[in-house]
Amino acid sequence: MIIENQAMVTKAVEQAMSRVEDPRSREILLALVRHLHGFVREVRLTEREFGDAVRLIAAMGQKTTASHNEVMLMAGSLGVSPLVCLLNNGNQGQTETQANMLGPFWRDDQPMAASGSSLVRSPTPGEGLCVAVSLVDTSGNPVAGAEIDVWHSSPEGLYENQDAKQAEMNLRGRFVSDQSGRFTFTSVKPAGYPIPVDGPVGNLVRATRRHNFRPAHLHFMVFKPGFKTLISQVYSPDDPNIDSDVQFGVTRALIGNYVRHDKPTDEFGFAAPWYSLDQHFVLEAGEARRPIAPIHGKVEASDLSLRRSIP
Ligand SMILES: [Fe+2]
Repeated sequence: MIIENQAMVTKAVEQAMSRVEDPRSREILLALVRHLHGFVREVRLTEREFGDAVRLIAAMGQKTTASHNEVMLMAGSLGVSPLVCLLNNGNQGQTETQANMLGPFWRDDQPMAASGSSLVRSPTPGEGLCVAVSLVDTSGNPVAGAEIDVWHSSPEGLYENQDAKQAEMNLRGRFVSDQSGRFTFTSVKPAGYPIPVDGPVGNLVRATRRHNFRPAHLHFMVFKPGFKTLISQVYSPDDPNIDSDVQFGVTRALIGNYVRHDKPTDEFGFAAPWYSLDQHFVLEAGEARRPIAPIHGKVEASDLSLRRSIP
């Protein structure tokens, strides 16, 4: 097709995309062209702005390493990851769901841990936390024998793979639910943490005049054949940024019912204050599939300093 005018460009590209054999890929590509060209027309994108956009997308790839995924971070910063999550869970977006984003820090080799054990593997100062988890199916029956990965940041807001002071796999573990669908663990109460802002995502966060923090949370992944793998995060209601997550991840269903205790406890060896959390997860029938881990290595110590705060 010889292009005669701007409208014909879209027609020519749509014609090319309609040749894609796989129906789902064809549907996605045709919609992509329709929306992308529509976007360019709506904002009357200038040549200079187009150049800026190309450099920005290239910079996201250049910033991505084994320990950091700038593209994933941008997807969260634009609300795309939470949207994909909410559309694909809770009866295809019709009902409330406990599903949440995987985030960038899950490791697929977390060590097995016995129910009742502590996630603290090296000295990690902080307020004590005792968590009891129960799993049921949609009929309310307990789900026994599920594997549950738990991981979270330290009270300083760092995951072990970001922090030379923490032992390998500190604040991480993989549990198995018992016959009543339960397991418990102790740990330290996590803090919120800043997302890296030394790349394109930082420019966006600054432009929107937002802070760059995620509110404190615990990550969970519940895996058992026969059930849709539940990837979740449970947020701390007392975090000052609970309603302004830079990654738009906090949903009403996932604000944890933390209880604060103001007397020390001998049972867990916690000083006051310490916290307990009863967390109940409902598993939907479906495909059990662990995702591909988003990171495969540790952050270089020299990488960390300038990434963490908005000047
Ligand atoms: Fe996280």
